[in-house]
Amino acid sequence: MQLSDIQAKLLIVDDLPENLLALEALIKREDRTVYKALSADEALSLLLQHEFAMAILDVQMPGMNGFELAELMRGTDRTKNIPIVFVSAAGREMNYAFKGYESGAVDFLHKPLDIHAVKSKVNVFVDMYRQSKAMQQQVEALEQSRREQETLLVQLQQTQIELEHAVRMRDDFMSIVSHEVRTPLNGLILETQLRKMHLARNNASAFTMDKMHAMVERDERQIQSLIRLIEDMLDVSRIRTGKLSIRPGEFDLSRAVANLLEVFSPQISAAQSSVNFTADQPVVGQWDEFRIEQVISNLLTNALRYGAKKPIDVTVYTEDDFAVVAVRDNGIGISKDNQQRIFQQFERVSGSHVVAGLGLGLFISEQIVAAHNGKITVQSELGEGALFTIHLPLVQKT
Ligand SMILES: Nc1ncnc2c1ncn2[C@@H]1O[C@H](COP(=O)(O)OP(=O)(O)OP(=O)(O)O)[C@@H](O)[C@H]1O
Ligand SMILES: [Mg+2]
Repeated sequence: MQLSDIQAKLLIVDDLPENLLALEALIKREDRTVYKALSADEALSLLLQHEFAMAILDVQMPGMNGFELAELMRGTDRTKNIPIVFVSAAGREMNYAFKGYESGAVDFLHKPLDIHAVKSKVNVFVDMYRQSKAMQQQVEALEQSRREQETLLVQLQQTQIELEHAVRMRDDFMSIVSHEVRTPLNGLILETQLRKMHLARNNASAFTMDKMHAMVERDERQIQSLIRLIEDMLDVSRIRTGKLSIRPGEFDLSRAVANLLEVFSPQISAAQSSVNFTADQPVVGQWDEFRIEQVISNLLTNALRYGAKKPIDVTVYTEDDFAVVAVRDNGIGISKDNQQRIFQQFERVSGSHVVAGLGLGLFISEQIVAAHNGKITVQSELGEGALFTIHLPLVQKT
């Protein structure tokens, strides 16, 4: 930006219109705008509306004179630094009549006006004004860019923290995944080797109908747990790409939970726990049955894992416009700090690593419930068990 691009506004005040016109003709230029005031009052109202590079005040005016006007200008922040040139008909001793003007930029012109003196004084003040404007703009630009750099730095630091966290999570996740995959695979490979050995020895008694039943049973469980691991990981990438689809159909939530508890009965006894089930009948709505079962399965699995073998309460009921499923356990509980965290992917409460799990269950559950316009909440105190509640709208708003 060039200095001459900075518009300079000049204020001239005189009670005689012909004086104003003559002065205007002298100082007018393309890069300056001249404002004329016929009285101090007019001048004050212009001073409120515009930022002036300088003011040229006639000293002798009826009403408020030039010095009084200057006194008023000195009293206001907005105007106290505007350079003033007084025009007077009196002798040069008048020069000292006005003292102590804040900016110090006070000058005098005498009637009759010397064309050259007027022009050069105005040039000096306008140049000063432009230079200080330009400086001010540079300072502001500098300050602006400093602020931008500061925000950028904060963002960068934030991103770095997030990145480090993501890398740590990925490393943890990889080691948990390999551990989780290895457990069922080890079971399977051991079984296979055992069977091979029996076959090599022609040991038909190892393959009786009973034993085959148990074998297939065990194989199936191991394979199921592998499938679940892979399904969970697939769900996470579906969620990431926004492809987790919900296929709603009408069903009775109470019946679905009852059926699910049937399926869970081996796990419930394996965990040496028990489940109290109470349900309103029926609780019907439009939801994705497979996905909702997935959510409740996860809550049940968690309650069994972290429930310290204590009884579990499962309740299905309606409340206002929602169907509610509540799973309460009496186990280790979750501290307030961790209650937010556990809904994020791969997040597990430290110490729970002794128990199996990828830390994906609640993350996936929350996404599924959200896709139904519902919500999942937890209430818990450390050591006091946990209550997980899902709310599903009974009627979908379209
Ligand atoms: N009922 C509960 N009581 C205490 N802690 C719980 C309970 N449910 C979840 N948590 C904590 O929240 C963490 C996250 O749960 P989430 O279901 O997402 O993962 P996970 O059970 O560890 O693994 P996954 O579900 O993927 O097999 C758990 O690791 C556990 O620390
Ligand atoms: Mg889980």
